[in-house]
Amino acid sequence: MLRREREAAGVALSALASRLKVTKGYLSRLETGKTLPSADMVVRIAKILGADSAALSVLAGQLPADVQEILQSHPVEALDLLRESYSARDEAAPICHDSVGAVGPAEAAGELGTRSELSDNSVMSLRQYETVLGDCLEWLAERPESSIHAVVTDPPYGLREYTEPEKAKLRAGRGGVWRIPPSFDGCTRAPLPRFTVLTDQDQQALADFFARWARLVFKVLVPGGHVFVATNPLVSQLVYAPMLDAGFEKRGEIIRLVQTLRGGDRPKNAHKEFSGVTVMPRSAWEPWGLFRKPCEGRVQDNLRKWQTGGLRRISADQPFTDVIKSAPTRNGERAIAPHPSLKPQAFMRQIVRAALPLASGIVLDPFMGAGSTIAAACAVGYRSIGIEMDPEFYRVAVAAIPKLARLTLNGSESCRPVTTSQSSLFLLH
Ligand SMILES: C[S@@+](CC[C@H](N)C(=O)[O-])C[C@H]1O[C@@H](n2cnc3c(N)ncnc32)[C@H](O)[C@@H]1O
Repeated sequence: MLRREREAAGVALSALASRLKVTKGYLSRLETGKTLPSADMVVRIAKILGADSAALSVLAGQLPADVQEILQSHPVEALDLLRESYSARDEAAPICHDSVGAVGPAEAAGELGTRSELSDNSVMSLRQYETVLGDCLEWLAERPESSIHAVVTDPPYGLREYTEPEKAKLRAGRGGVWRIPPSFDGCTRAPLPRFTVLTDQDQQALADFFARWARLVFKVLVPGGHVFVATNPLVSQLVYAPMLDAGFEKRGEIIRLVQTLRGGDRPKNAHKEFSGVTVMPRSAWEPWGLFRKPCEGRVQDNLRKWQTGGLRRISADQPFTDVIKSAPTRNGERAIAPHPSLKPQAFMRQIVRAALPLASGIVLDPFMGAGSTIAAACAVGYRSIGIEMDPEFYRVAVAAIPKLARLTLNGSESCRPVTTSQSSLFLLH
């Protein structure tokens, strides 16, 4: 900005240096961001060039208290806000700063490098993700239109599982819709919700909830933004139909191939009599509905304007595909993030990565749980926002996200950067 202002004012570097009584080298370091001016210097420069000293001060890291407050309470959007206010669009580099020690994708390394010149700037202490304790419906209602680029989420489907009395029983380890299955192979398994048959009334209540949710998600997503929504084969219609009604296009389903230990496939109390009968297939997959808010014009136009409309390829030669082998969430991850529905990082990193075709934008998880989506976003270098209504799960997520994001190939926690190279995405299985 300083250089632009100087050139626009028709002042040569040497002339400005002599008026300020500083060296040309110092000015050149200011213009390339290698050093930051004092507040007094900003005012003097702005006066000579007839430039906006407030804008220059912000770029020099001297944020007025009210601006600092706004930015601190909106860390995810802060840099876009600053960039849009003070910088030329084409000079803007995607934000890859993080708070967890994991760096962004290898291809973002250059961008990180260019931003490191601002390392003393208070903007750099802003975080890559934001967590919100609250009801996502309320949050979505307040959120501006077209301000989220993808949603990756795993909503609650039981009407009772996440009610206060049931969560109390889950936490006490007895009774309720949650049951602790017997230990298996020496490992105590995580609680699973009992198979509960939803009445017509329950189903209507869920459909109403998702209808409201889908309309709000439609509003906050940019055109071309994708939604990955976890479900199961028995209830997927309860979320898919409201998504279509809200205006989304169905773009397929991601099949997470996962063998669970859930039983219930034989006729109850008559399994000896009907030993050759299975009542319903034992599920070996988990569907993730894939939806898209319609693009504005052609996909290529939408990609240019909103950075959305498609999915990110695994590599130039390999498209993202819709069947992903997975495994139940490992005990190591469960120990970091004790939540009954925790999704595994190996899988989450693959779908979160695919959600932003140009690796640019904000991923939202409105049902954050223990934060597996947000951790995956950190691991692949994306900005994200997670919302969780339950204070205890929220606390779990806040503590777990940095640790899950740092998990490396062999599952141990490490401060080594997590990369998004193909191997690290897949070896976590
Ligand atoms: C199925 S779990 C998500 C688990 C998550 N995928 C993970 O890996 O930890 C759904 C979560 O949504 C939360 N939740 C339910 N209703 C909510 C609402 N209206 N707003 C925000 N969070 C909600 C529940 O407390 C629960 O933690």
